[in-house]
Amino acid sequence: MMREYENLSTLHTNREPARTHYIPYDSFEKAVAGNPADSAYYQLLNGVWDFAYYARDIDENESAPFTESIPVPSCWQCYGYEDPNYTNVNYPYPVDPPFVPDDNPMGVYHRNITISESWAQRRTYIVFEGVSSHLSVFVNGTKVGTSMGSHLPAEFELTPYLHQGENDLTVKVRKWCLGSYLEDQDFFRFNGIFRDVYLLSRDQDRLWDIEINADDKNIVYTGEGTCTILNQNGTEDDLSSPILWNAEKPYLYTAIIHHGSEFIAQKIGLRKISVSPLGELLINGVAVKLKGVNHHDTHPEHGYYETNDELLQELKLMKSLNMNCIRTSHYPPTPYFLEMCDQLGFYVVDETDIETHGFCTRFPGYVGYDTENMDWICRRPEWQNAYVERAVRMVERDKNHPCVIFWSLGNESGYGENFAAMSQWIHNRDNSRLVHYESANTVGNPDTVDVVSYMYPDLSRTDGFAQSDDMRPVFLCEYSHAMGNGPGDLMDYWRLIYSRPKLIGGCIWEWADHTVLRNGVGLYGGDFNEMTHDGNFCCDGLVFHDRSFKAGTLEAKHAYQPMWSKMENGQLKIQNCYDFTNLNEFTLFWEIETDGKITDSGSLIVDIPPHTAKTVALDYQLPEQCALGCFLNLRLVKGETEFASDQHDLEIRRVSSPLCDSSNTLTLTQEAEYILIHGNGFTHKFNTHYGLLEDVNGLTCGMTQLSVWRAPTDNDRRIKSQWGYLNNDNQSGENFNRLFNKVYDCKLEGNSITVTGSLAGVSRLPFFRYTCVYRFFDDGSIDVNLSGTVRENCIWLPRLGFEFKLPKSAQHFSYFGMGPGETYCDMHHYANTGMYQSSAEVEYVPYIVPQEHGNHYDTRLLKMDNGLTFASDTPFEINVSEYTSEMLTEAMHTNELVKADYITVRIDYKVSGIGSASCGPELIETYRFSEKEIQYGFRISID
Ligand code: GAL
Ligand code: MG
Repeated sequence: MMREYENLSTLHTNREPARTHYIPYDSFEKAVAGNPADSAYYQLLNGVWDFAYYARDIDENESAPFTESIPVPSCWQCYGYEDPNYTNVNYPYPVDPPFVPDDNPMGVYHRNITISESWAQRRTYIVFEGVSSHLSVFVNGTKVGTSMGSHLPAEFELTPYLHQGENDLTVKVRKWCLGSYLEDQDFFRFNGIFRDVYLLSRDQDRLWDIEINADDKNIVYTGEGTCTILNQNGTEDDLSSPILWNAEKPYLYTAIIHHGSEFIAQKIGLRKISVSPLGELLINGVAVKLKGVNHHDTHPEHGYYETNDELLQELKLMKSLNMNCIRTSHYPPTPYFLEMCDQLGFYVVDETDIETHGFCTRFPGYVGYDTENMDWICRRPEWQNAYVERAVRMVERDKNHPCVIFWSLGNESGYGENFAAMSQWIHNRDNSRLVHYESANTVGNPDTVDVVSYMYPDLSRTDGFAQSDDMRPVFLCEYSHAMGNGPGDLMDYWRLIYSRPKLIGGCIWEWADHTVLRNGVGLYGGDFNEMTHDGNFCCDGLVFHDRSFKAGTLEAKHAYQPMWSKMENGQLKIQNCYDFTNLNEFTLFWEIETDGKITDSGSLIVDIPPHTAKTVALDYQLPEQCALGCFLNLRLVKGETEFASDQHDLEIRRVSSPLCDSSNTLTLTQEAEYILIHGNGFTHKFNTHYGLLEDVNGLTCGMTQLSVWRAPTDNDRRIKSQWGYLNNDNQSGENFNRLFNKVYDCKLEGNSITVTGSLAGVSRLPFFRYTCVYRFFDDGSIDVNLSGTVRENCIWLPRLGFEFKLPKSAQHFSYFGMGPGETYCDMHHYANTGMYQSSAEVEYVPYIVPQEHGNHYDTRLLKMDNGLTFASDTPFEINVSEYTSEMLTEAMHTNELVKADYITVRIDYKVSGIGSASCGPELIETYRFSEKEIQYGFRISID
């Protein structure tokens, strides 16, 4: 028994043909102002609707009165009807297209609509901007039509079913339909009417589509009615000296089409997209780099529904992060989103609502894109309309937007005849933009795509694409997987991208964490008893679900920043990385920071045209020497906003105050397993059995540890099983988290204690054999010198260093190192080395799944407020936390973290980088801590 929503010949019934998105207005002025609510021809139906939910659509009781209600737009899972389900690749039901489960949940929405006398004379349409997944519309009990395609508009003419006065509108929404096979995006599966719904009142002979063509010279409208072009001053413009649009200077004209009683406005940007012989992407003839991010509609409380204001705030944040490109992964956004992209200036990769990734897992295991197999619906003729209409509906809706530069055929759906048909349709319809489809690379990038696109290639593969004979632009539609703590290696990608014309940039995966927030805790896959789920793989945003920033966010801002600078033979050279903007629109602030204090500063305006570099003379006074470091800090500012910053080590001679090297007043006495070190006003306690400091004059509160473990980050996802004993896997790892520190010898000689020992994970050979020398001095200070060798075939280490336990009262500290945010060897370009104050509490970063965080790279001094100080001439790394690595390893949600009853202070020789290997390539070799010969030391002193 084939149901209508499983029938490929009823993709819709009575849906109006696709057209450009617009709102008709009843006056020229209202059309210019562009506030739909002011139009006499527009009625927004958002609000509270009657609602009934059926776990099986067959149980619907049409005569039952409505007793419940739900807001529109919304997703019903957010209101307690069903639990959410997060699945990535796997379909949440068997792969048996076009059939979906027999028990198909349904939401029935109902409200009255009022048709005034004047509306009753005209034609009435209803527009749904987004409904997941199948809708049927009824007016006054009569079925009007059906549609699918969750993120695409569906419009129906209601005129014949309406009468003046109150009318009854019912919308039945099915959870699943054959279209669900095309909507296997990696996200929570939500349902309902989740975007705007509105009525339009139209002239009897209303215009339908409005197509306005613009290039870098002119605006052409050949349709019916009159077309008036206004410039940004609101005056009529004949375009004799047109101002062009680009993402940096998004100049928009307004075209007003007047026909009958209707005025229809469209914002138009003059711009031309082309490709140079080198494979560069040209906007108005200028080669641009796409500094992008992938954007999903996601809200911690509202699922797929984001208000216009929330979307606008996101776009403003992206602008502030120097982003100029958005891929609308993996479906068209709301029309409003694109209007704002036109206005704020973004290059948009508009992607249609297609993903069939689950075909890769239709057999056990991940078979990948075996599209020689006709199972793939992208190859099946009976599915062709279902594919092509999703291209048509996107292109027709969005074709007038200057921001859209690429049409994307979808995501992760293999390749076949149906994609070729989509591409062909688009090329015939609109040849002014490029066609993008990443999965085309699974069949060698046929010429149906104008851009070749890849996901997560490492640097050398990326460079390989840049050097190939294929002269199409190379786009990384997804790179730098931003999950959890990270991404780390963005600067490395951008050094490469700038050096190769054909690399036109890419989009970080992805903008925001997807979570379901309950009682302040971010939940994810597996928290809802799903039949299949993908854990926290949906928490992979560059910003948290509340859009707050993390270190990776700021690192991305830095990689994308418009100013790159370097010191060359004592001279500052500044590169303008904008494509259309002179740096003279900004103020460049500089300061000399010596040992954490500003010793000189100034500001200037630098005249550097786009794509050029200049040497800039700064008139600063330098100190003759410093103790910790002397730096030049730069900030590029416009208004209140900082767009770029850089820091350069000026390499001023460092002279540290002499350290105490006498030990005349000390007594070192051995008592049982201890050596007690008595001096003038202090006592330290060393444990010879464990070969470790047990107490530093009462400032610590327990045994020090020598350790290598860090709570795996999401980006350590794959390496962590080689590091630790996790998930009951006793085979794969060095078991660094189940550590034995063996002491072979512990010798007291004069003022020094020498320990020889090794570290080994349970069941494994020792991986580190070391000698550690402790030397004690009259002022209470202690030199710690560790040297050792890491086993040749041992995996690279998470980190290596000492952990000190401090009483909880010793929260606060200051340090000279890279901050104030967390920094790692591959994620610190956004930060400056300087003197910072912090506390263990402030150092905590609330990653959705607790993990390693809070490191400070390039540290030279750490001073705990209780008087304990760690310092070294050779930079080390520090971490001060209210949690132990073990606790962070265990906890799966933020509310499972309980503070330890002491503060852990890590004084590390080195910590491995962060990278983005949660989905991206393995951590770049230079950022892995894989040294075999270790030599490091620091001095502990007490106040
Ligand atoms: C890509 C995919 C995205 C997302 C990402 C992992 O393969 O296109 O939708 O799943 O991986 O977070
Ligand atoms: Mg996918």
